[in-house]
Amino acid sequence: MNLLPAAVAEVIYLAAAVCFILALKGLSSPRGARRGNLLGALGAAIAVVTVLLSTDFRGANLAFVLGSVGIGSAVAVPAARRVKMTEMPQLVAIFNGVGGGAAAVVGVIELAEWMGTEPGAVATTATAFAILVGSTSLLGSILTYFKLQGTITSRPIVVPFAAPLMVAALVAGVGVGVAVALTGNVWLGVVLMAVGLAFGALLVLPVGGADVPIVISLLNAFTGLTVAASGWAMSNTLLLVAGTLVGASGSILTIAMATAMGRSVTGILFGALKGGSTAGSTQTSDRPVRRAQAEDVAITLAYANKVVVVPGYGLAVAQAQHVVAELVTALRARGVDAVYGIHPVAGRMPGHMNVLLAEANVPYELLVEADDINAAMPSTDVVVVVGANDVVNPAARTDPGAPIYGMPIINADQAGQTIFLKRSMRPGFAGIENELLFSEKTQVLFGDAKESLTNVVGALKEV
Ligand code: TAP
Repeated sequence: MNLLPAAVAEVIYLAAAVCFILALKGLSSPRGARRGNLLGALGAAIAVVTVLLSTDFRGANLAFVLGSVGIGSAVAVPAARRVKMTEMPQLVAIFNGVGGGAAAVVGVIELAEWMGTEPGAVATTATAFAILVGSTSLLGSILTYFKLQGTITSRPIVVPFAAPLMVAALVAGVGVGVAVALTGNVWLGVVLMAVGLAFGALLVLPVGGADVPIVISLLNAFTGLTVAASGWAMSNTLLLVAGTLVGASGSILTIAMATAMGRSVTGILFGALKGGSTAGSTQTSDRPVRRAQAEDVAITLAYANKVVVVPGYGLAVAQAQHVVAELVTALRARGVDAVYGIHPVAGRMPGHMNVLLAEANVPYELLVEADDINAAMPSTDVVVVVGANDVVNPAARTDPGAPIYGMPIINADQAGQTIFLKRSMRPGFAGIENELLFSEKTQVLFGDAKESLTNVVGALKEV
């Protein structure tokens, strides 16, 4: 079509890049997240329309582009609308992998287009990087999707000779990558893509359990860098800016998540190769615990001074955010100092609890972060653990053999009493027993969190 001159397109790209930057700013707090998301989508829409209006499509290419956009939208829109909040990390993984894969394919196509021309070393180097890292991200992300979905085991899979194979793939990747950068040969580009796919599989297979979402974030950073490299190769400012933003924010998120779980990124990636495990067992315990009824819990809470509710993954499964908010509101109306203790990795994705509780219109002031809530634990009368387990498991402090050892937790064991709301004695994500369940200061109210909380709220009205 070429309706927009290149200079005008550049200015519009800049506006789209500003939208992306403001989107990230908005996403950094629950208050601005919705606005941030909309701004990001607006930036992407502006970018796509600008590409269509400023490109001189040859032959049937426009039909291919529009057809691909149509097919992509037909698949992605219903998938994104239907996805359950607890399955969001899988969706992010697959969308991210497709992005990396697309950048790698674009790289190979660029090499084919450049045949017989002199594209220059910078362009071929950036293209080689995009092909290698993009295809690593593609297969790595697909495998993390299957791990989280339970299609393949989420435990570490260590293939025979995993470490030497990984080194070999890395050496081959660098070697073929340099050859592509020097020659611009398209067939070497295809070989580089195969090496990248193999490296992606070798990188992700040994990662297990709670570490899988951290690797998704790392692969997300890889995709960002791939897109930035494509932007470099194709002299496209927008791809360069957007890719750099994704690369930087993905890297920061990876480090933040690893720190919140008390793990190092290298430990996550290579721990299983050294014989360590990143996931525990999933056996159910048959040791006795003190069982509670909804009425007992209501009385205990009604006569407490300070109550901390610690939500976790089970709150999301039960969709109990509205009724937990009702309970806290009722307690506060009675003069109980009731707040929420939010662990950074409670649930299955960063900010999971914040998103859920925001849905129930819980005021942000009542959400207290782990460090601050821990300072108040010794003076807390009752901790109500709603569908959480690992984030209050003292094994993180006391058992060097535990997969969560070193992860900062909410020290519920230091409060006067603990009440667990869960359905069974099954362990949490890390697959290990929680000693706090068996403490004499602990009671367990068995059942679905939504049902149990509804019963407690009902019983509280009678107290
Ligand atoms: P978990 O340790 O996984 O415990 C969840 C608990 O919820 C389980 O004890 C489960 O017990 C209970 N539960 C499940 N469905 C329930 C329902 N309908 N009603 C009541 N209880 C229910 O969760 P957590 O404490 O939130 O810890 C999060 C874990 O996930 C950590 O290990 C973390 O490292 C990992 N992780 C976090 C992230 C991020 S970024 N947030 C990402 C991936 C992994 P029952 O089955 O007996 O009910």
